[in-house]
Amino acid sequence: MKFFIDTANLAQIKEANDLGILDGVTTNPSLMAKEGVKGDAAVLNHYKTICELVEGDISAEVVSTDYEGIIAEGKILAAIAPNIVVKIPMIKDGIKALKYFSDQGIKTNCTLVFSAGQAILAAKAGATYVSPFIGRIDDSSWDGVQLIEQISHIYTLQGFGTEILAASIRNSLHIVRCAEAGADVCTCPLESILGLLKHPLTDIGLAKFLADAKAFQ
Ligand code: E4P
Repeated sequence: MKFFIDTANLAQIKEANDLGILDGVTTNPSLMAKEGVKGDAAVLNHYKTICELVEGDISAEVVSTDYEGIIAEGKILAAIAPNIVVKIPMIKDGIKALKYFSDQGIKTNCTLVFSAGQAILAAKAGATYVSPFIGRIDDSSWDGVQLIEQISHIYTLQGFGTEILAASIRNSLHIVRCAEAGADVCTCPLESILGLLKHPLTDIGLAKFLADAKAFQ
């Protein structure tokens, strides 16, 4: 399973990249706004900086909702760097745009996916990635990871090549459960990635090893 970081915060992207386990970055308009990145030029420049920091796929989201607008915006985003992935919402015109970019050989990420039916449509349209939002599903009293399992089952059975990108990750257990459920990629906040490191027995064991090593010096 690939690890993406789900943020537009450059310091966090650098920290995750320095770990040596980062495969890419996802952003969305809310994450850009959180970092105070405002205006078209600033947004494009911010994506350019992220693309220079990380070698892997960088999802850049369109904010148009009509076919022509999505295509125009997606072309501008795709021109920023070869590792840009055009992130397109799961709407009717979005499906048409996914097919267009797929035919052009431009990578895409179909976002705001909450059902297996939507995931089938994204795959049929040739999306490179499909992003089920598992945390938001959990927030509405459903099990988001079950959706990952269902999509994984369908894609394997049907031979779809679209990669399942588990999004809206809320904690480290989500990452483990998404790996078990067959996600190809997990896009996570930095704290959820770092949370995977934690185990009290590791801390206790290391403290004992260091104490014993010191005692015998
Ligand atoms: C990633 O592609 C999504 O934009 C993101 O994971 C959404 O996460 P949230 O539900 O925490 O906003």
